[in-house]
Parts: sequence; structure tokens; C-alpha cells
Amino acid sequence: MQTEFIINGVYVISAALFILGLKLLSHPSTARKGNLLSASGMFVAICVTLIDHQILSYEWIAVALLLGSVVGFITAKKVELTSMPELVSLLNGIGGLASLAVSLAMVLTQSLPVYVLIILLIAIAIGGVTFTGSIIAWSKLSGKLSSIIKSKAMVFKGQALFNSLLIVAIFAMGVFMSLEPLNMEYAAIFVALCLVLGVMLVIPIGGADMPVVISLLNSYSGLAACAAGIAMNNNLLIVAGALVGASGIILTSVMCKAMNRSLSNVLFSGFQAVTNSEMKIEGEVKAMSSEDAYYVLEAAQSVIVIPGYGMAVAQAQHAMKELQTLLEENGAEVVYGIHPVAGRMPGHMNVLLAEADVPYELLLEMDDVNPRMETYDVAIVIGANDVVNPAAREMEGSPIYGMPIINADLAKNVFIMKRGMASGFAGIDNPLFFKDNARMIFGDAKESINSIIRQFSD
Ligand code: TAP
Repeated sequence: MQTEFIINGVYVISAALFILGLKLLSHPSTARKGNLLSASGMFVAICVTLIDHQILSYEWIAVALLLGSVVGFITAKKVELTSMPELVSLLNGIGGLASLAVSLAMVLTQSLPVYVLIILLIAIAIGGVTFTGSIIAWSKLSGKLSSIIKSKAMVFKGQALFNSLLIVAIFAMGVFMSLEPLNMEYAAIFVALCLVLGVMLVIPIGGADMPVVISLLNSYSGLAACAAGIAMNNNLLIVAGALVGASGIILTSVMCKAMNRSLSNVLFSGFQAVTNSEMKIEGEVKAMSSEDAYYVLEAAQSVIVIPGYGMAVAQAQHAMKELQTLLEENGAEVVYGIHPVAGRMPGHMNVLLAEADVPYELLLEMDDVNPRMETYDVAIVIGANDVVNPAAREMEGSPIYGMPIINADLAKNVFIMKRGMASGFAGIDNPLFFKDNARMIFGDAKESINSIIRQFSD
């Protein structure tokens, strides 16, 4: 009784740390502290759970803890920021697998009331779907297993019917299992069907929509944990699962909104890239040397920097910070315009710029910079493409028509740093590059910025 009281008391503290951590994660200046608080919450929760009298083997738990910590530490140290969505996907998958394993063990080893059994079956189903769905998402994003799993949407005739039958079969097996919970064959078929459903739900989604899917799967992994927590009567698992479930779904909806797409459009219709011939773009592309860019920047009073995925690829954030300092010393005001889905994961640009010590107050949101865009002398677009594509405003019928963008084309001058004329993630052409006030500075973004920096020092 006393042990249970202590465990639940510490769980309340852990839950409070999770919630406080989440709150602090919402701003770059407090994000590190938030991460540390949440991790501490998890640490004390693990420690106090270990005093539970029902624990069967401390040896195996110690081995698992050690192995998990070592693998986690090495992976986190080694992972490139651009590969973060893949890692998150794998972690979601492992979360789903854990809920599946724990729930399945309970079903197969204990005699349980029907309502607990049903909750556990739900946890197994969501956990299974999350596990295989996340593995497919990881594979689509990383290009690993690309010979089997294509990054683009994989669709076949009768897919919707097949999926519907699969769901009916899972439901039927669930009923059989609730009648005969200790039947191993039923359990094996039920788990296998859930795993197949995870694959089937994610293969028809194109690689371009994977970050949204990963966020959704993150939410599923939380729901699976929450369901397992209810069945196991573990209060912290319920709270933590609900927090993950809710934050995952909020993030999913923020991303969909920023791309002006509904969740059902992301999940069921695939992103259709429009070929060049379908989009007629007027004007011509004008290239510019870094020397000429320097002359314009030297005279500029206000500059807005709009970063995108290419800045992450080029790792140009430190060079940009150096250029920002030079421009400020030269009397210009410099701000950054951050699009909510610039890059490949939420907050991607904020993290990179924070790493380069760019002050947070210079990072402005799309809605703050757009009304003032005409006042900027120069907009420097660093490796961004889709998030500054005016087709979203001007070209009805374009797949991104209606998506909110940063209106870089409305600045007095626009410098676009990219290596060539390749399209961005959405695979569509960008009329911005053809506008009269736009100049292309071709090359790797970091090298282009360094070359302008050299002009300042000469
Ligand atoms: P993108 O549209 O993907 O464009 C990136 C551009 O960077 C490319 O056109 C590429 O052109 C250029 N680039 C690549 N390497 C470079 C380098 N070393 N130096 C200079 N330029 C380089 O990026 P964006 O504007 O950030 O848009 C993000 C896209 O991801 C959107 O379509 C968004 O909907 C999608 N998305 C994002 C998220 C999140 S949460 N961020 C979620 C879902 C979907 P070159 O090859 O010609 O250099």
C-alpha cells in the first residue's frame, strides 16, 4: 500500500515535469530546459517503477536499460539534423512495438475482465499499426530498402477494398480473441493483420507527405501507450500517452494547415506533382555574381533572410550569421522570415539558426513578415523553394495553390541561393525565379554566402 502510494506520488511529479517540459519546449530560448525537465521526469518515473513488487527480473531490466541507453546515446550523437524525421519515425515505431509487446503479454498470461481485454486489444492494434507504419515511413524518407519500398505513393487497384477487408478481419479476430484470449493462433493472426494494416496505410502516401505521417504515427504511439496504461492501471503511462497523443495530433494539424491541405487529403490522395508543360511561367531567369550581390547588399537598409531546406543541406547557418553581423555593422536591419514547414521537420530552421547563435527575437513568423515585405530592400532566399513559391498565390490549379507562403517576391530585390533550377520537395516549378526583381546566385549556399562575406572584407 505504502509502495503504491510512493510510486503514484512520484508519478504525479513526473507528469508535472512532462507538462512543464512541453510548455518550455514551445520557445527556442527555453527548449533545452524543457527537454531536460521532461527527461528528468522520465528518469524518476523509471527509477520509482523499479521499486514495484511485481517486477520479475531486475537483471534483464538492467541489461535492457544499459543497451537502450548506449544505443540511444550513440544514435543521438551521430544523427544529422536532416535525418531527424527518420530517427523520430524509428522511435515512434519502437514505442508502438513496446505497447504491443506489453499488452500482448498481459492478454496471453492473465485472466482479465472483458473491458480490460478490449482495451488491450486496442493497444495491440494501434501499437502494431504504429510499428510497421513507422518502419515504412522511415524507409520512404531514408531511401533504405528503396528497391522494395518506393518513396513515391504506391497504389494498386482495389487498395481501398483490401484495406477495408483487412479492418473487418482485424475486428473479427478481436472478437474471437475476446472469447478465447489464451488462444495463441488467434493472437498470432490478430497481430499479423495489424502489422499488415500499418504497411498498407503508409505505402500509398508519397515521401513528400512523410513528415505529416510521422507526426500522426507519433500521436498513435501515444494512444497505444495510453490504452496500455489504462489496462495496466498505470497512471503515468496514461498521462504520458495522452500527452504524446494530443501533441502529435496538434502538430499534425499545424503542418496540414501550413500546407493548406486536409489530413484526409494527405492520407488518401497522394501529392500530385504538376509537370513543367502544365505550368506556363513567363519571364526569364537572371543569374547574379556574389560580387554584384555584395554591391546591392552594401547599400541595403533592411534585409530579410528566408531559409529553407537547402540551408540545412549546405549547413550555411553559421556563414549566414557572419553575413548578418557584417550587414548590421554596415547599418542594415536584418531579420529572418521563418515558414512553419520550411525544411523537413517542425522548427527545423529555428534549431539551425539557434545553433549559429542568431538571436531568437530576429526570427519572425510568416504572418509578421508578409505585411511588411514591400519595405525590405533585399530578401535573401537561402535554399528555400516551395515556401516562397508564388504559384501558391497566383496559379490556380497548382498543387500548392492556396498554401500560405512567405511573399519574398514582393520585396524590392530577391536573391535566391540554390545550386541549380531543381524543384523543391513538392516537385513543382517556381515562378519566383523568373520575376523581374529576382536574381539567382547559383552554387552551394554556404559557398555563395562566404563569397559575399569575402567581398565585405576586401
Ligand atoms: P524545398 O522546397 O524542399 O527546396 C529546397 C531547395 O534547396 C531545393 O530547391 C534545392 O535546389 C535547394 N538546395 C539543396 N541543397 C542546397 C545547397 N547545398 N545549397 C543551396 N541550395 C540547396 O524546401 P523548403 O522551401 O524549405 O520547403 C519545404 C518543403 O517540405 C515544403 O514543400 C513543405 O511542404 C515540405 N514539408 C515540410 C515539412 C516540415 S515540418 N518542415 C513537413 C512536411 C512537408 P537545388 O537542388 O537547385 O540546389
